[in-house]
Amino acid sequence: MSTLRRFPPTGLRWRLAGWLALVTLACTAIVFVTVYRGTGTQLRHQIDQETAGDAGELAHNLALARSRTPRQLSAAATRYVRAQPFSASSTLLFVLVPGVGTSTNRPEVFAPLSPDHGETPAEQAQENRLSARLLAAPAGYSTVLLPDVGDLRLLKRLVRVPGGLTVTVGVGEPLAAVAHAQRSVARAFILAGLLALAGALLASYLVGARLSSPLRKMAAVAARVDAGDLYPRIHHTGGQGDEVKVLADAFNHMLDRLTDAFAGQRAFVADASHELRTPLTVIRGQLEVLASQREPSGEEVRRVERLVQAEIARISRLVDDLLLLAKTEQTEFLRIEWIDLSAYVGELWDGMSLLANRHFELGPVPAGTLRADPDRLAQALRNLVGNAIEHTTADGTVRMRVQSAPGERIRFLVEDDGPGIPLDQRERVFHRFHRIDAARDRASGGTGLGLAIVRGIADAHGGTVSAGESQEGGARIDLELPGFTAAHARAADALGETVRAQHGRGASGAGDAGRVRTR
Ligand SMILES: Nc1ncnc2c1ncn2[C@@H]1O[C@H](COP(=O)(O)OP(=O)(O)OP(=O)(O)O)[C@@H](O)[C@H]1O
Ligand SMILES: [Mg+2]
Repeated sequence: MSTLRRFPPTGLRWRLAGWLALVTLACTAIVFVTVYRGTGTQLRHQIDQETAGDAGELAHNLALARSRTPRQLSAAATRYVRAQPFSASSTLLFVLVPGVGTSTNRPEVFAPLSPDHGETPAEQAQENRLSARLLAAPAGYSTVLLPDVGDLRLLKRLVRVPGGLTVTVGVGEPLAAVAHAQRSVARAFILAGLLALAGALLASYLVGARLSSPLRKMAAVAARVDAGDLYPRIHHTGGQGDEVKVLADAFNHMLDRLTDAFAGQRAFVADASHELRTPLTVIRGQLEVLASQREPSGEEVRRVERLVQAEIARISRLVDDLLLLAKTEQTEFLRIEWIDLSAYVGELWDGMSLLANRHFELGPVPAGTLRADPDRLAQALRNLVGNAIEHTTADGTVRMRVQSAPGERIRFLVEDDGPGIPLDQRERVFHRFHRIDAARDRASGGTGLGLAIVRGIADAHGGTVSAGESQEGGARIDLELPGFTAAHARAADALGETVRAQHGRGASGAGDAGRVRTR
């Protein structure tokens, strides 16, 4: 019972066994019908040839007999048929001489119309009917059913003998041998079919068990994963072309990705909680300090209020960033529009270059339109420019170059002359909460989400973002988006001149510039 439950009859091995049994049966049936019919046809053909030979020989002998009268001819025929070696067998041989009678090796069949010696009238009547049927059979081949013999293959020929007489020569051979051979074929096929069926069932069951074994292992691994254990893997040894190996590898790869995704999610939640806890701890500490004073001075209250406000602003920014990051994975994250690139970049740059005391340089912007979400793109560029401002000192350079790229793409290169991003950090800076100098950035208010948001926005547009090095050795962030359609060549020169702007407004010194925000 338990075995049945473990291997339900709907399982792969049972279905395989069932199908193979059906195919074996069908093949055996087709071969059987072919062999059965072939045997019958061949034997019948052989019998036809034999009867033709016998009839020919009989006709030839009658011709040689040189009998002058019908009676002499009949006597010669009787002598011949009685002398044949097959006269005692079941083969029928007769010669009908008109006006005389029938000479045959089976006289009881063609006997006179009265009861023979020892025969009942019913038996004699039957023989009379039989002889009438034999005599009435058409010339050529026919099959006649005889009560004792069964089916009889009969060949009748009209033979003209010397002297002008025409006699009927008949030769009959029972078809029992054919039926017998066909029965033997059927018996052999039933036996062989049963053996083949049993062999096919056993082989297919074993093959099915072998094939389904890795699948059952995969199901067991999937069940463990479902129960929360992400670490089991399928170990299947097989060649390159082994489909099960391909499936097992894909399954393992999927589990690796799942494990990474879960680990990333856990780390993200831990980081987010940690980032939220830090300002909350500051707020609580400051409030406790304030509460511990019986009569706090107005200055002290304002100091605490300033600190608490700053931390609350930090928390709300963090929450906003987290929400935005969560939304980047949703399909309705973007509101795509046609953007006039030169006007858009010029306006954005004008706003950003007011934020700090830096050399802001904007290279020529190719004329054309870009299909993108203007608000999200502005946010990404502001994050990049904000980072550049943060990592440069007063009078440092913040540069943006915009270039068209093959495949209707556009590249935004934001560069600075700050310390740059070390080679081994250039991918990691795009990870959530990753900061190169965590202590300094936390003190300066950075949460390490800015570049992750830029990547989220780039991904949502079907674009890419990567970090590199500027010509001054500072950082260069390369944001590339699809969907750019270049305008007419004349229009491309519209913003040909490099726009340089140096602003002294906004933040006043190097220390303040590090806290400048673009969002
Ligand atoms: N222009 C740059 N020059 C040098 N380092 C940079 C530059 N831009 C980013 N980085 C490094 O990459 C890290 C991640 O940048 P990201 O913008 O994601 O976070 P953040 O600026 O620290 O915080 P947030 O942008 O969320 O306020 C930064 O902490 C910084 O160490
Ligand atoms: Mg940043």
